[in-house]
Amino acid sequence: MNNRKEFIVALVREAQAMILAKIDANYNVDIKGGNQSDLVTEVDVSVEEFLVGRIQAAYPNDGFITEENTVPIEDKEYVWIIDPIDGTMNFVYMLRDFAISVALYHNKVGQIGVICDVVNDEMIVGVLNEGVTLNDKPVKNVQPVTLREAIVDVSLRTIVGLEKKGIADLTKMSSSILSHRNMGSAALRLAHIGLGRIHMYISDTLCIWDFAAGLVILNELGAYHNFLEDEIVFDAKRTDLLASNNKTILDELKENFYI
Ligand code: IPD
Ligand code: CA
Ligand code: CA
Repeated sequence: MNNRKEFIVALVREAQAMILAKIDANYNVDIKGGNQSDLVTEVDVSVEEFLVGRIQAAYPNDGFITEENTVPIEDKEYVWIIDPIDGTMNFVYMLRDFAISVALYHNKVGQIGVICDVVNDEMIVGVLNEGVTLNDKPVKNVQPVTLREAIVDVSLRTIVGLEKKGIADLTKMSSSILSHRNMGSAALRLAHIGLGRIHMYISDTLCIWDFAAGLVILNELGAYHNFLEDEIVFDAKRTDLLASNNKTILDELKENFYI
């Protein structure tokens, strides 16, 4: 696995340089499927094509699941799961707080997760049973916090969505947690749970490319996650994800704020 890890980290570094070179350029921005908040730019597509092309050249038998559909989804022994820019809204409007997210799964088990915070130059790499590094330095396991000490990242859209579906009323949790944020990049937020910067992330609008790399990182650092649907959906379907610093605070949240 080490060869593949070194290969993908070097490749993501090249993709990071590509994005930084384009960050202030003029590029086309399109809206996906009529959803004003689901953006795709020329940069997303060209970075994905670059990553896919180079992986195909090095590992021709591997399959892919990618956000921008530059290659068909293929169920192979090894599958690369790619989000070329996670947080495209942040990329377009804020020029920061977006990431490249690449994971390698083997028979549906996460092996490598790479999340690159492009502007802050942070490369977080998790390898199954080998731990996590941040810019090549080992990261320690998360320190458990209580719900009262937890910083929770959840979007208004998810709060409304979970309420509408009759699952949870998260508006009521505000006095039970330390604070609330919504950064706008699922991959980065999962990495940040691993790094101990926040403690919980809740979303009902994710696809596998948003969290595939993050889960490898969280699993290695003793953090916890689960899905309403119980298992990862290995296709382009939207799903939910609850990730947290530890299982106890997620159970506590569910006990108190699930409908
Ligand atoms: C989005 C971001 C956002 C999350 C959305 C994702 P994209 O990914 O991760 O934080 O709320 O559900 O689709 O479209 O910027 O790659
Ligand atoms: Ca994404
Ligand atoms: Ca994306």
